[in-house]
Formats: sequence, C-alpha cells, structure tokens
Amino acid sequence: MEACAPADRWARSRSLLERARRSLAGGVSSPFRAKFPVPLYFADASGSRMTDVDGNRYIDYTLAWGPLILGHRHPALVEALRRQADRPHILGAQHELEYEVAEKIQELVPCAERVAFTSSGSEAVQLALRLARAATGRSLILKFEGHYHGWMDSVLISHHPRADEVGPLEKPHAVLESRGQVANVVENVLVAPWNRLEIVERLFAERGREIAAVILEPVLCNSGCLLPLPGYLEGLRRLTESHGALLIFDEIITGFRMALGGAQGHYGVTPDLATFGKALGGGPPLSAVAGRREIMELMFTGGVAFGGTFNGNPISLACARATLTELERDGGAALARANRTGQKLMEGIRESARRHGVPLQVCGFGAAFALHFTARSELRDYRDTLEDDRERLATFLLRALEHGVYALPDGRMYVSAVHTEQDVADTLEAVDKVLGSLRD
Ligand SMILES: Cc1ncc(COP(=O)(O)O)c(C=O)c1O
Repeated sequence: MEACAPADRWARSRSLLERARRSLAGGVSSPFRAKFPVPLYFADASGSRMTDVDGNRYIDYTLAWGPLILGHRHPALVEALRRQADRPHILGAQHELEYEVAEKIQELVPCAERVAFTSSGSEAVQLALRLARAATGRSLILKFEGHYHGWMDSVLISHHPRADEVGPLEKPHAVLESRGQVANVVENVLVAPWNRLEIVERLFAERGREIAAVILEPVLCNSGCLLPLPGYLEGLRRLTESHGALLIFDEIITGFRMALGGAQGHYGVTPDLATFGKALGGGPPLSAVAGRREIMELMFTGGVAFGGTFNGNPISLACARATLTELERDGGAALARANRTGQKLMEGIRESARRHGVPLQVCGFGAAFALHFTARSELRDYRDTLEDDRERLATFLLRALEHGVYALPDGRMYVSAVHTEQDVADTLEAVDKVLGSLRD
C-alpha cells in the first residue's frame, strides 16, 4: 500500500499547480484547498480510492470535503447522471424531481415540514437567517466560536479566531475572519463559546428580546468534530423557545451523514429551521433549507425575497434522488455502515497512538471525525483546540499522504458508505507507521 518513493512523488502535481497559478487565482478553486500539505491534481477516482497525476494511490477520507457519502462514481449516481443527460439539464421552471426529493427530505428529516433548494451551503444559511429575522422581526443572531456557516459577510465571524483575539470566555469578541468584510456586521451577531449552556442563558437573560435565532453546527465538525455535551442541544431548544427565538441547525455536514434524519434525528432535538448540503446531492452542487411550514412559506406570503438561477436544477436533484434512495435502502444500512467503519478507524487510531505514546484525541461520530494532537484529556469547545499541536498535525498529514492516506488539512476524516474492511486495515497499518515515526 505504501506508494513508491520517487525523488519527488508529486512532481507532476507541483508542476501543474505552477501552470495553474499563471491563470487561476492562487492556482486552486478554493483557498481552503491550498492548505493541503501538497495540493494534488487527480487523474482518477472510484469508490474510496483516488489516483493522482503522478500515479500515487490514496484512500480518500476527504470525500471532496463531504459530498461523496457514496464514494466516487457510485453506480446509482452514474446511472442517474446518464439518464439525466438525455433529459433537460436546466429548466428555470417546475419539474417533478423537485417535489420528489422534497418529499423524501420531509419523510427523513424531523423539522422538514417544507423544503427549499439552493446550490451551496453558504446560500442556504443566508436564506435561513433571512427567514429567521423576518419571522421574529429581530436582527441579532447568536452563533458559536469555531462554527463555520459559509463565507458570507453576515456569518464569517469567530470561525477560527486566534487566541489573542477571542476575548473573555464569558463574553467572546465577535471576530471578523476576512479583510474586505463589512465591519458593522458584528453589530448583528452575538458570539458564545460552544458547549457552555450557562453562558447562552446569560446572553438570553441580557438580550433575549433582540435575538432572532441561534445558529449552530449540532456537532462542531469545523473545529475538530466536537460533540455536544449531554443536554446541551435540549437546553438550546428550551432557551430559544422560551425567548421567542428560532433554533437553526446547520446540518450541512451532519445531514444525511450522522443519521438519515441528521443530527436532529440522532439527538431527538428538532430545530425550527435546518440547512443541508454536501451529502444531500452525493456530489453535484445542491443545498437546501428545511423547516416549519409557516416560516418557510414567508418566501411566498410574507415578503421574504429569495432566488437562484440554479435552484432545483434537475442534474443535482437527480443525483439527490439517487443518493437518498441508496441511503434509505435496508433501513439506512449504508449510513450505519459508514458510521461503523468510521468508529473502527477512530478506535484503531486511538489504540495506535496509545501504543506509541503519542498524545492524541480522536473526536467525532464515525462518518466524520478529527485528530487532535493535544495533551488535553477532553476537548469541549473551540478554545480547547487552540492548544492542539498544529505542526505535529501537519507532519502527520504529510507522512500519511506519503503512505496513501488522504485526509483534510485540518485533521478531519470523512468516511463513506463504500469504505471497506480492507481500507480500514490498510489505513490503520499506514497510520501506525506514521504515529510511530512521530514518537518523541
Ligand atoms: C457547517 C457548514 N455550513 C456551511 C458551509 C458552507 O457550505 P458551502 O461551502 O457549500 O458554501 C459549510 C462548508 O463546509 C459547512 O461545513
């Protein structure tokens, strides 16, 4: 499984990147992708495996940052795309796949009384926030440190602030993430640390009447897959309800991955609105907002503006229908398998780290998990992850790549329904070598 070791095993990727930099800004299509130890060019991918342009083979734990819940080129998606190739590709008008997929989401997702389709996760979040503000007549949004809700001005706040920026735990600063962001967006956002209900309670006591919604990743996947503490989601549900604010679950990662009903199905806490993306389409661009009927209908009866040329496009929806059909089959066997496979990997990696005496926390829920090189015994919120040894993570990721394991640059690993026992064995063997090489 170890790839051959030429002088530079990534020579062709590096030279293509150089060429791309002369035309494509930064050489990559998303700055997040430039953060890989080596931004690779791929020649082929199938199932759980990928081959780069230098001929190196990898087990893929990035899943294109999430969508590929059925792996690369799953036969059901290939067939859906083939069939749709001979049908209208885009209509800008109504077609039957729209309600077919919306009905499936309604069946699977507890909060989904109504559904609206968008194309990217960032767009879905914008729609959810606009609906929440319109429904409540309030403008403040409460979000949590370390949570990512897309790159739009209104929410790209305190995603990954530095330790010297975060401010007091009891009253975190709202930190802009990007140059060029409109500075006064912070006036409409309150920031709280994750997993500390007493602080949210205090914020509600002080400003509850101004808060339109609380938005959160129900599992904090974008800062190392930290799970909510027992009772935390229930507490947020209670607080929002009692103060007339809405609860929005951003399920763009957890949706159709943690469970068929998303994190809300798994934890039994139903938000007012939820956003979906990534795994929903299984590959092509697709996102959605789902939620309570009277809030969702504000787009048509309540003066809430919303649009999108690509909304409900048949290609993405054909893939979503195929993906959801596969995920639903045999009582949700595919997602159960993905999560079981992920849990085996998590346990195997922990065991290997223990054996080599490498301080490592592996957090998450199976189909999405993350590695933290840290001496901490518990990771509760984003601030705890600031102590992670990021240099060690970078070394780990580079060596893992050399051994054929392709993970996200923040140490996150996504597991699909088509990762196999052999993938687990090969990965654990590779990770064991890498962790052994990291021993102090
Ligand atoms: C939880 C969450 N919300 C929103 C987004 C934004 O989605 P997109 O990149 O499709 O705009 C992401 C993207 O990773 C995400 O993880």
